[in-house]
Amino acid sequence: MTNTRIVLSSDHAAIELRQAIAEHIKAKGWEPVDIGPVTPESTHYPQHGEAAANKVASGDCRFGIILCGTGQGIMMAANKVKGIRCGVCSDTFSAEMIRAHNDANMLSMGARVIDQDKAIEIVDAFLSTEFEGGRHGTRVDMITAIEA
Ligand code: RB5
Repeated sequence: MTNTRIVLSSDHAAIELRQAIAEHIKAKGWEPVDIGPVTPESTHYPQHGEAAANKVASGDCRFGIILCGTGQGIMMAANKVKGIRCGVCSDTFSAEMIRAHNDANMLSMGARVIDQDKAIEIVDAFLSTEFEGGRHGTRVDMITAIEA
Protein backbone atom coordinates (compact mmCIF):
# COMPACT_ATOMS: atom_id res chain seq x y z
CA MET A 1 0.00 0.00 0.00
CA THR A 2 1.51 3.32 -1.05
CA ASN A 3 -0.63 5.71 0.97
CA THR A 4 -0.04 5.02 4.65
CA ARG A 5 -1.60 8.27 5.91
CA ILE A 6 -4.46 7.98 8.37
CA VAL A 7 -6.41 11.07 9.40
CA LEU A 8 -7.60 11.25 13.00
CA SER A 9 -10.14 13.63 14.43
CA SER A 10 -12.54 13.83 17.34
CA ASP A 11 -14.59 16.18 19.44
CA HIS A 12 -13.75 17.17 23.04
CA ALA A 13 -14.99 13.83 24.40
CA ALA A 14 -12.16 11.82 22.87
CA ILE A 15 -8.97 13.87 22.75
CA GLU A 16 -6.86 11.57 24.94
CA LEU A 17 -8.09 8.44 23.19
CA ARG A 18 -7.37 9.99 19.79
CA GLN A 19 -3.82 10.86 20.81
CA ALA A 20 -3.24 7.33 22.13
CA ILE A 21 -4.47 5.85 18.86
CA ALA A 22 -2.24 8.20 16.87
CA GLU A 23 0.81 7.01 18.82
CA HIS A 24 -0.23 3.39 18.38
CA ILE A 25 -0.69 3.51 14.63
CA LYS A 26 2.58 5.42 14.23
CA ALA A 27 4.38 2.60 16.05
CA LYS A 28 2.73 0.20 13.59
CA GLY A 29 4.21 2.04 10.60
CA TRP A 30 1.27 4.23 9.60
CA GLU A 31 1.53 8.01 9.29
CA PRO A 32 -1.02 9.63 11.60
CA VAL A 33 -2.46 12.92 10.37
CA ASP A 34 -4.01 14.26 13.57
CA ILE A 35 -6.21 17.24 12.75
CA GLY A 36 -7.29 17.86 16.33
CA PRO A 37 -8.76 19.47 18.23
CA VAL A 38 -6.01 19.76 20.85
CA THR A 39 -7.69 21.76 23.62
CA PRO A 40 -10.54 20.32 25.72
CA GLU A 41 -13.18 23.03 25.23
CA SER A 42 -16.58 21.82 24.12
CA THR A 43 -16.73 21.66 20.35
CA HIS A 44 -19.01 20.38 17.59
CA TYR A 45 -18.48 16.86 16.23
CA PRO A 46 -19.96 17.52 12.73
CA GLN A 47 -17.15 19.88 11.76
CA HIS A 48 -14.48 17.39 12.84
CA GLY A 49 -16.18 14.48 11.10
CA GLU A 50 -16.49 16.45 7.89
CA ALA A 51 -12.87 17.66 7.99
CA ALA A 52 -11.54 14.13 8.45
CA ALA A 53 -13.86 12.73 5.79
CA ASN A 54 -12.68 15.31 3.26
CA LYS A 55 -9.10 14.12 3.73
CA VAL A 56 -10.13 10.54 2.93
CA ALA A 57 -12.50 11.43 0.08
CA SER A 58 -9.80 13.56 -1.59
CA GLY A 59 -7.29 10.69 -1.45
CA ASP A 60 -4.92 12.61 0.83
CA CYS A 61 -5.37 9.92 3.48
CA ARG A 62 -6.05 6.21 2.94
CA PHE A 63 -8.17 5.79 6.07
CA GLY A 64 -9.79 7.90 8.75
CA ILE A 65 -10.32 7.23 12.44
CA ILE A 66 -12.84 9.49 14.16
CA LEU A 67 -14.10 9.62 17.70
CA CYS A 68 -16.72 11.32 19.82
CA GLY A 69 -18.57 10.34 22.98
CA THR A 70 -20.54 7.57 21.31
CA GLY A 71 -18.91 7.54 17.88
CA GLN A 72 -22.36 7.99 16.40
CA GLY A 73 -22.66 11.70 15.69
CA ILE A 74 -19.24 12.10 14.12
CA MET A 75 -19.92 8.98 12.00
CA MET A 76 -23.17 10.47 10.72
CA ALA A 77 -21.36 13.65 9.69
CA ALA A 78 -18.54 11.77 7.95
CA ASN A 79 -20.96 9.63 5.98
CA LYS A 80 -22.50 12.74 4.41
CA VAL A 81 -19.28 13.26 2.46
CA LYS A 82 -19.34 11.59 -0.95
CA GLY A 83 -17.14 8.49 -1.11
CA ILE A 84 -17.08 7.87 2.62
CA ARG A 85 -18.09 4.57 4.17
CA CYS A 86 -17.75 4.87 7.93
CA GLY A 87 -19.01 2.52 10.62
CA VAL A 88 -19.10 2.75 14.40
CA CYS A 89 -17.43 -0.21 16.10
CA SER A 90 -17.33 -1.38 19.70
CA ASP A 91 -16.00 -4.86 18.89
CA THR A 92 -13.29 -6.34 16.70
CA PHE A 93 -15.63 -8.55 14.65
CA SER A 94 -17.54 -5.52 13.39
CA ALA A 95 -14.26 -3.76 12.63
CA GLU A 96 -13.13 -6.68 10.46
CA MET A 97 -16.49 -6.92 8.74
CA ILE A 98 -16.77 -3.25 7.81
CA ARG A 99 -13.46 -3.67 5.97
CA ALA A 100 -14.06 -7.16 4.52
CA HIS A 101 -17.67 -6.68 3.43
CA ASN A 102 -18.32 -2.92 3.31
CA ASP A 103 -14.91 -1.63 2.20
CA ALA A 104 -15.13 0.98 4.95
CA ASN A 105 -12.58 3.75 4.60
CA MET A 106 -13.31 5.29 8.01
CA LEU A 107 -13.72 3.87 11.49
CA SER A 108 -15.62 5.61 14.26
CA MET A 109 -15.59 4.76 17.97
CA GLY A 110 -17.07 6.12 21.16
CA ALA A 111 -14.72 7.23 23.93
CA ARG A 112 -17.59 6.97 26.42
CA VAL A 113 -18.46 3.47 25.22
CA ILE A 114 -15.18 1.53 25.09
CA ASP A 115 -11.85 1.83 26.90
CA GLN A 116 -8.48 2.52 25.32
CA ASP A 117 -7.36 -1.12 25.16
CA LYS A 118 -10.53 -2.13 23.31
CA ALA A 119 -10.23 0.82 20.95
CA ILE A 120 -6.66 -0.17 20.05
CA GLU A 121 -7.78 -3.76 19.39
CA ILE A 122 -10.52 -2.45 17.13
CA VAL A 123 -8.11 -0.20 15.24
CA ASP A 124 -5.76 -3.15 14.67
CA ALA A 125 -8.62 -5.32 13.43
CA PHE A 126 -9.77 -2.60 11.05
CA LEU A 127 -6.31 -1.88 9.63
CA SER A 128 -5.32 -5.53 9.17
CA THR A 129 -8.39 -6.61 7.21
CA GLU A 130 -8.67 -6.37 3.42
CA PHE A 131 -11.85 -5.87 1.42
CA GLU A 132 -13.02 -9.20 -0.03
CA GLY A 133 -14.64 -7.79 -3.18
CA GLY A 134 -16.83 -10.17 -5.23
CA ARG A 135 -20.47 -10.08 -4.18
CA HIS A 136 -19.54 -7.53 -1.54
CA GLY A 137 -18.20 -5.29 -4.29
CA THR A 138 -21.59 -5.37 -5.99
CA ARG A 139 -23.23 -4.21 -2.78
CA VAL A 140 -20.70 -1.46 -2.12
CA ASP A 141 -21.26 -0.27 -5.70
CA MET A 142 -24.96 -0.07 -4.85
CA ILE A 143 -24.15 2.19 -1.90
CA THR A 144 -22.06 4.40 -4.17
CA ALA A 145 -24.93 4.55 -6.68
CA ILE A 146 -27.16 6.07 -3.99
CA GLU A 147 -24.75 8.99 -3.80
CA ALA A 148 -25.25 9.65 -7.52
C1 RB5 B 1 -20.85 15.47 23.17
O1 RB5 B 1 -21.34 15.69 24.44
C2 RB5 B 1 -21.49 14.24 22.54
O2 RB5 B 1 -22.80 14.52 22.17
C3 RB5 B 1 -20.69 13.75 21.36
O3 RB5 B 1 -19.39 13.46 21.77
C4 RB5 B 1 -21.17 12.48 20.68
O4 RB5 B 1 -21.42 11.47 21.58
C5 RB5 B 1 -22.27 12.65 19.70
O5 RB5 B 1 -22.64 11.72 18.97
